[in-house]
Amino acid sequence: MTTLGTPLSPHATKVMLLGAGELGKEVLIALQRLGVETIAVDRYDHAPGQQVAHHARTIAMSDPAQLQALIEAERPHLVVPEIEAIATPMLEQLEAAGTVRVIPTARAARLTMDREGIRVLAAETLGLPTSPYRFCDSLAELQAAIDGGIGYPCIVKPVMSSSGKGQSKIDGPADVQQAWDTAMAGGRVSHGRVIVEGFIDFDYEITLLTVRSLGADGTPVTSFCDPIGHVQVSGDYVESWQPHPMHPAALAKARQIARTVTDNLGGQGLFGVELFVQGEQVWFSEVSPRPHDTGLVTLCTQHQSEFELHARAILGLPVDTSLRNPGASAVIYGGVEAVGIVFDGVDEALRVSGTDLRLFGKPESFTKRRMGVALARAGDVETARGNAKLAASKVKPRKA
Ligand SMILES: Nc1ncnc2c1ncn2[C@@H]1O[C@H](COP(=O)(O)OP(=O)(O)O)[C@@H](O)[C@H]1O
Ligand SMILES: [Mg+2]
Repeated sequence: MTTLGTPLSPHATKVMLLGAGELGKEVLIALQRLGVETIAVDRYDHAPGQQVAHHARTIAMSDPAQLQALIEAERPHLVVPEIEAIATPMLEQLEAAGTVRVIPTARAARLTMDREGIRVLAAETLGLPTSPYRFCDSLAELQAAIDGGIGYPCIVKPVMSSSGKGQSKIDGPADVQQAWDTAMAGGRVSHGRVIVEGFIDFDYEITLLTVRSLGADGTPVTSFCDPIGHVQVSGDYVESWQPHPMHPAALAKARQIARTVTDNLGGQGLFGVELFVQGEQVWFSEVSPRPHDTGLVTLCTQHQSEFELHARAILGLPVDTSLRNPGASAVIYGGVEAVGIVFDGVDEALRVSGTDLRLFGKPESFTKRRMGVALARAGDVETARGNAKLAASKVKPRKA
């Protein structure tokens, strides 16, 4: 039986989000609706999620001492990582000591913190199909890995990075130096390690949202959302839609891969499993042990969005992953570098049939920073994609 408390009372059910961006903000709203007391943590003040939580805290989450001090002071029932750059060994220590439960598990947070942990687990421990890959610590090692079997074209990514930062495609020997430099400049922690992956010439790529919740008898149950198709530009998502049609054999393989990796990571919560598909062949790419950016589309397509699913699953509540209607999302970038920007054309955007918007409330805009998303529901995915892109194009961020 799950019992929930009253927020701001001695019996509150307390949840701490580590990272309070646009995805965390929606998880926080879902938790608020269930009367959970929420603590939103980020590295800067007025992060989107901090604006909708009971408590806002600003710390360097990659600093183990700061993280430990905050968790011990707040004593949340659950700690929910929303980003990768967290002192995860400290989370493992606090979890092992029984201080806190980490979602989905502290080990999952550590393994998915960089590309190496999860790739080695998926490919070598679990034997899942992935692109061929090597890890390299220098330009010479990168060149040797390519010459030694990875070949051209290939993709180089810093081991610690997300949203395509520092990532580039290498088409031939002339691109290697540039790709190395880009990776060194774009990595989150400049310890100089990269992954080089053989390029998979996929027909399409999907995110398979996979939920581990508790059944009535208290044992874990795995459920899948309909596949989400998406377009990535320079490794960053610009558009997504649901459902993405799949050959039944490919869908069965995709679910099998997702189940294998999420069973291993364990715990409760929603995972975003990224897969490449070519005909009936499916490759595992990576997994987020938390809501996925391409899954923003579920705000307008499912009875329970990925954020509600995550909130329910982590609290031990039942979930419903069913699709309500087809839909699409289109990203709204800042386009300008400024603090406290304004958005023109919001009314025109919302006049597009079946649309909705999320403006994240980020205090500072960068040209390529995701500031909002347009959502569209329709009778079919093509119409929804057109309307989502149209609505996004009507929103014009500018300096105030
Ligand atoms: N080996 C690969 N072959 C082909 N495309 C790839 C490969 N690796 C990455 N990509 C493309 O780049 C995107 C971002 O790569 P990903 O590994 O998911 O990085 P991130 O962690 O930044 O999301 C993928 O969604 C895919 O479109
Ligand atoms: Mg990705």
